[in-house]
Amino acid sequence: MRRSLAVAVVAVLSALALTGVALAGNGGVAPVEPASPNAEGINDSYFWVSIFTGAIFVLVQGSLLWFIFRYRRRNRGRSEDGAQVHGNTNLELAWTVAPVLVLVAIGTFVFWKLPGIQDVPAADAAGGRVDVQVKGYRYYWNFTYPNGVIAVDKLRAPVGQNVKLEVTAPDFDVIHSWWIPALGGKFDAIPGKTNETWFNAQAPGIYRGQCAELCGIQHAVMKAEVEAMPRAEFEAWLDEEQGLQEAGTSSLGKETFTGACAKCHGLAGEGDIGPTLAGNALITDANTVEQVVRNGRGAMPPIGTDWEDRQMDALTKFLSEGGLNGG
Ligand code: CUA
Repeated sequence: MRRSLAVAVVAVLSALALTGVALAGNGGVAPVEPASPNAEGINDSYFWVSIFTGAIFVLVQGSLLWFIFRYRRRNRGRSEDGAQVHGNTNLELAWTVAPVLVLVAIGTFVFWKLPGIQDVPAADAAGGRVDVQVKGYRYYWNFTYPNGVIAVDKLRAPVGQNVKLEVTAPDFDVIHSWWIPALGGKFDAIPGKTNETWFNAQAPGIYRGQCAELCGIQHAVMKAEVEAMPRAEFEAWLDEEQGLQEAGTSSLGKETFTGACAKCHGLAGEGDIGPTLAGNALITDANTVEQVVRNGRGAMPPIGTDWEDRQMDALTKFLSEGGLNGG
């Protein structure tokens, strides 16, 4: 009996320690530090719900332990019944009313927070808004800015300005899920449907995320990041990149290869789950590359059927100029 008591005490202490870790926001138990108002709303809701679920957990497990020890059999004979208890109006009222109040408290708080999480700020709200199209492909993210600039896997964004994301996937692809935890909730990228979400990065930095919908063999490497930078810096980059992409001298080809091709064919084209590209003369032939990328081949999906010409040209140029050999 002494040993069971010791086990119980250790269990309770461990549970308390875990709760401490969760409240301290580390150990991977608590959500990441929010860096956008919508993500803050999600975290606030998480902690509000945790207060009730934590208290209920302690109450239920505590009562369970209490009953196990307080009302154990002791010297009573094996075949003898324990004391028979029938009805306790106050207790029954309490355990009916209390959960209702808990649900009302949780529901009210969450519905109060919801608009700040869900509603995309208007385009003419203070500070303006940048609208970006986010498209999920197997196994990369393509971003298109209002001025036509295309980026792969890494989204640059201004600090302190609203960014609206139009999350979708091309018709020939599968469902992916956009999720940068520090910048808001999860949004599915569904072929033929556009989901809208937003963020407003509160500080410069790199915020990482990961495709959150199993989409195929390379789902695990379908990562994304948002680099938030001061607004002036962002605007200067976007302008400059527009010039470079229109002139065909940007690094979009390399970015596209790294994001769209290398995850299956290797960074140096050395081959992985996809065939080796390095040393294959055909990859320097723009027409062949375009054919394969637009139509797919064998196990390879048609990863670039709907690419803008500038992205296709950037990729074929990168390959024909020996990009794989570091040229
Ligand atoms: Cu895309 Cu998982």
